[in-house]
Amino acid sequence: MSAKDRLILALDVNDPEDAIAIVERFGEWVSTFKVGLELFTSAGPDIVRDIHARGGKVFLDLKFHDIPNTVVRAATVVTRLGVSMFNLHASGGFEMMKRTSEAVVETCLRENLPKPKIVAVTVLTSISQEEFKKDMGYQHGIRTHVKHLSAMAHRAGLDGVVASGHEVSAIRNSIGSGFIIVTPGIRPSWSPPDDQKRTMTPREAVHNGADYLVVGRAVLSQKEPEKALELILLELLSS
Ligand code: C5P
Repeated sequence: MSAKDRLILALDVNDPEDAIAIVERFGEWVSTFKVGLELFTSAGPDIVRDIHARGGKVFLDLKFHDIPNTVVRAATVVTRLGVSMFNLHASGGFEMMKRTSEAVVETCLRENLPKPKIVAVTVLTSISQEEFKKDMGYQHGIRTHVKHLSAMAHRAGLDGVVASGHEVSAIRNSIGSGFIIVTPGIRPSWSPPDDQKRTMTPREAVHNGADYLVVGRAVLSQKEPEKALELILLELLSS
C-alpha cells in the first residue's frame, strides 16, 4: 500500500471551513480524512459530502456503541453517505457487529452502493494498563482483551479493528493477513504523546503489521505541519 493510502489524517476541528481548508491543503499527500465526533456534531453529514466533492475519502469515526437495532439503522445511513470506512465499538457485542455487517452488505447489494469497510474499536489508545485494571475492573491485561475483541469482530464478519500499535502484532499473529488493522496513537519520535498512553512511531506500527495509521496532532499541532507530514511519509516510505 502506498504511504498516501496508509495515512489517515484526523480532522479534529469543529469548523467545517477549517476542515475543508485542511483537506485542500493536504489532499495531494493524503487519500483519507477522518471525521470524528467533534466535526460531525458541528457540521453534520454535509462535511462528508464536501470532502468527497474535493476528491477525499472519509473514515467516519463515530464509534457506534448501542443496541444492535440502533447501530444497524445508523450504519445503514452511513453506508448511503458513501464513506470508505466507519467504526463501532467491539464491546457493543457479537450480535451488534454481525447484524450491522449483514445489514450493510444487504443495503449495498440492494442499492448498488460500494461497501464501506467496518472496523471495530478494541481498547482506546488513551487507556493505560493501570487504568484498564484499576478503574475499569478487568482482571486480565489489555493485550488479552484486544485479542479477544478482535477475534469476535472477525467472527462477526467485520473488515478489521482499530487498535494501538502495541497490540498489532498479537492481532496479526492470531488472525492473520487480510484483516485490517487501523492504528491511532501514532507519535513520531519527535512529537509529544499528549493524552495518548499507548503510542507508537509510524515505522514501528507498520513493522508490527498495521495497515492504516491515524495521525492528528503529530501533523496538525506542529509549527510546520507540511514538514511534519513529509517526515512521517518519508518514515513510512523507508519502513
Ligand atoms: O491527535 P492524535 O493523533 O492523538 O489523534 C488521534 C485520533 O484518533 C483522534 O481523532 C481520536 O479520536 C482517534 N482515535 C484514537 N483512539 C482510538 C480510536 C480513534 O485516538 N482507539
